[in-house]
Amino acid sequence: MEFNICLLPGDGIGPEIVEQAVKVLKAIGQKFGHEFVLKQALIGGEAIDKTGFPLPEETVEICKESDAVLLGAVGGPKWDNIDKDRRPERGLLGIRKELGLFANLRPAKLFSELKNASLLRPDIVDKGIDLLVVRELTGGIYFGQPKGEEVRDGKRVAFNTMIYDEDEIRRIARLAFELARKRRNLVTSVDKANVLDVSQLWREVVEEVSKEYPDVTLNHLYVDNAAMQLVRDPAQFDVVVTSNLFGDILSDEAAVITGSLGMLPSASMGEKSPALYEPIHGSAPDIAGQNKANPLATILSVAMMLDYSFNLKEEAQAIEQAVQNVLAKGYRTGDLLEQGKQLVSCSEMGDLVCKEI
Ligand code: IPM
Ligand code: MG
Repeated sequence: MEFNICLLPGDGIGPEIVEQAVKVLKAIGQKFGHEFVLKQALIGGEAIDKTGFPLPEETVEICKESDAVLLGAVGGPKWDNIDKDRRPERGLLGIRKELGLFANLRPAKLFSELKNASLLRPDIVDKGIDLLVVRELTGGIYFGQPKGEEVRDGKRVAFNTMIYDEDEIRRIARLAFELARKRRNLVTSVDKANVLDVSQLWREVVEEVSKEYPDVTLNHLYVDNAAMQLVRDPAQFDVVVTSNLFGDILSDEAAVITGSLGMLPSASMGEKSPALYEPIHGSAPDIAGQNKANPLATILSVAMMLDYSFNLKEEAQAIEQAVQNVLAKGYRTGDLLEQGKQLVSCSEMGDLVCKEI
């Protein structure tokens, strides 16, 4: 089979980690007889430097013509003082909106080989962490109107609007329930319904949707409690569904308790293809260009792509198994190094995974 993939390496460590993921794609292509046709486009700071815009029109076109998109990372201190409408992050928000990627799936899973890396107490970690944050990605306070900054009564004020319509809530809720059916049949919806009107509607609509899924258990948590429960007892969670802003915050928290930010992939999807895959970590400008970064989150993002976008389950499984094997053999990039393990570079890690495949 032939698949068209658009690569958006982006900034910081983006190019070096995407390079490793490409090696892995090629290894899979060879082993299973697929052709992955790769195109590359500009996004983020690199795009600003070369075109003046964080999301050039050409990039949107190439993405729309592809079957899937693989993104590295965007942003860095070099572009921190640019006008806010032109910052690298705008590129990422823009491509999500352009491709209609309303759902962001962020699995947070503890790799048994990396238990010691978790920041939580061993008795908490021993119960396991295997949850999936399903974050609404194209609505809520990130995009709500009105927003802006102005002067009122001689004072500067700034404002954003947290707004959802029932259709937006319904489609993300349905996806969460569908995904829960493939996991452990439990959905936790996170909101702030004790204070926010928008959260009250959120809760109402999620309740309505849950009637279509009598086999899935639904519970609700306020976001402050959810943040606390995530560190107190993460094993209680299966699928967590929430709005854009709460999901942004909780997915970082869920990721970091596994201790291995450098290991976690993500998928952003809409009603039609292409979906976009990216590691959940950022551009790590402090180690960029030094061949030190951990490419495994990007490599595992490719596994998610093969599974979700191309329905290549066996191939996805082969990548996950290869990553497990490399970890089991004791190879680690700097972020996960412990006593007795062997330090490898970003490119060596990519080669090791390919060898296992
Ligand atoms: C993320 C990031 C982005 C977000 C930024 C870079 C715009 O934090 O993907 O979680 O807030 O969505
Ligand atoms: Mg974030």
